Amino acid sequence: MGGALHNRSQMMQKTTMKLEAVVFDLDGVITDTAHYHFVAWRDIAKELGIVIDEAFNERLKGVSRLDSLRLILAHGGKADQFSDAELETIATRKNEHYVSLLSDLSPADILPGIADLLQSLRQGGIRVGLASVSKNAPQVLAALGLTECFDYCADAAKLTHSKPHPEIFLTACAGLGVAPENAIGIEDAQAGVASIKGAGMYAVGVGSQLEGVDWLVPCTSYLTLPALSAHWADRQQH
Ligand code: BG6
Ligand code: MG
Repeated sequence: MGGALHNRSQMMQKTTMKLEAVVFDLDGVITDTAHYHFVAWRDIAKELGIVIDEAFNERLKGVSRLDSLRLILAHGGKADQFSDAELETIATRKNEHYVSLLSDLSPADILPGIADLLQSLRQGGIRVGLASVSKNAPQVLAALGLTECFDYCADAAKLTHSKPHPEIFLTACAGLGVAPENAIGIEDAQAGVASIKGAGMYAVGVGSQLEGVDWLVPCTSYLTLPALSAHWADRQQH
């Protein structure tokens, strides 16, 4: 009896959990800059005598610039060969290369379905946040013409931890004034999914090989507000 009552009150609590915000990763979710990050790192790694491929690149997604460089050097067996100042110089060179690859970025590079989703969220009164560890995020959003679509963007420069730590998604929810359990996070990287789940949010993954997501879609065109709302409502019943 007590158990039944408890279950009922748990259920009622769950059904009142409203979707209040959606927090997006940037690279690989809003636009395909994930590929440009790979190309820039691949060329820099080659100069260092290290070969990286797209499979290795999966480990760099959602990881900060310097941490990515450390992973690449470890992969090439050169982890201890550079001073901190040299690491900074190499990372800066990678960034210059990456930024040069972005020179033609335009609204045409927004991934399928994302512009419509952002518009539907605004019309539906659902807050929109950005959780990207990229220090280039403001420029990328501006080049895509999407700056005004976001109510709050976490500032990568002010973070202590990179993904998979939950800090960035928690920061985005706090900035939006929304409890994490009332928000969805969308990610294309395993480190990002871990960050969303660590924050206590509902995780939507874009791609094919992501573990621990609540809903996995093969590409962004599946991300419509009706589909997100249906999956959100469905989880309330479980
Ligand atoms: C993430 C990317 O969004 O940003 C990573 O997935 C990248 O690949 C990281 O290293 C940092 O980006 P930036 O633009 O600050 O070098
Ligand atoms: Mg990403």
